[in-house]
Amino acid sequence: MPIHVITNENKHLYKDQIEQHYRIRYQIYVEKRKWMALDRPDKREVDQFDNDHAIYLLALEGDEVVGGTRFVPTIYPHLMSEVFPELASVRGLQRGYDVVEWTRIFVIPSKRGDGTGHTLADEVLAGMLEFCLEEGFSKIAVVCETFWLPRWLEIGWKAKPLGPITQIEDMECLGVVIDVDIETLEQTREVRNVPANVLVRRSCKPGIVSQIIEEHQRIQASRSTRYVG
Ligand code: COA
Repeated sequence: MPIHVITNENKHLYKDQIEQHYRIRYQIYVEKRKWMALDRPDKREVDQFDNDHAIYLLALEGDEVVGGTRFVPTIYPHLMSEVFPELASVRGLQRGYDVVEWTRIFVIPSKRGDGTGHTLADEVLAGMLEFCLEEGFSKIAVVCETFWLPRWLEIGWKAKPLGPITQIEDMECLGVVIDVDIETLEQTREVRNVPANVLVRRSCKPGIVSQIIEEHQRIQASRSTRYVG
């Protein structure tokens, strides 16, 4: 299944799919999972991190969204820094140019695993690693439910908890950091039988990390020149 990379640069090409995915998120997280803090009258699940820094990987069947996930570079405000910093109370918040936060992975119910082999969810996971390697993100930080850990360890991911297991509403959650490297991507493809190169890039070449570094260097330079003379 092609997984499209959608950033601020090319989101004008995916207006309909971005809207579809907000509505799917509402159906999954609010209607099904009852994360009622995310409820909105317009029946779109959108939070403060769906901003210009958000990056979406959306699995599209034709023009229909069937799965996906979201990334936010940790140099910007993100879920763990703003809402759940206590989940990183042991190892500390993972923040840096090369660290990206991962949230909101989903697959529509009809495309979920049927126990017969690799799933669309596995393709999204492999697509995430492919994306990070292309962009230069070497770590993924995530607030997750504990059921994920054995799944990741089983496919060879190098995942370390950042703090204690914490009850959030009715869920047992953890802050985790995952190392990204080529070996992990290859192992994920092999163990879960995922084809190579699942990502599709329309008008968005890799370069997010270098853009972030340049932007911050510009800000630093303008700050230091304010006092000269
Ligand atoms: N709590 C505990 N276990 C869960 C779970 C949850 N919230 N969600 C999924 N699982 C388990 C399933 O029970 C299943 O276990 P099994 O293999 O022992 O039967 C396994 O994870 C695979 O899940 P399944 O939904 O069958 O298939 P999948 O791998 O194709 O999809 C998700 C996984 C998470 C993408 C899909 O379940 C989904 O979209 N869920 C809703 C969105 C969501 O909750 N995302 C995570 C938080 S952002």
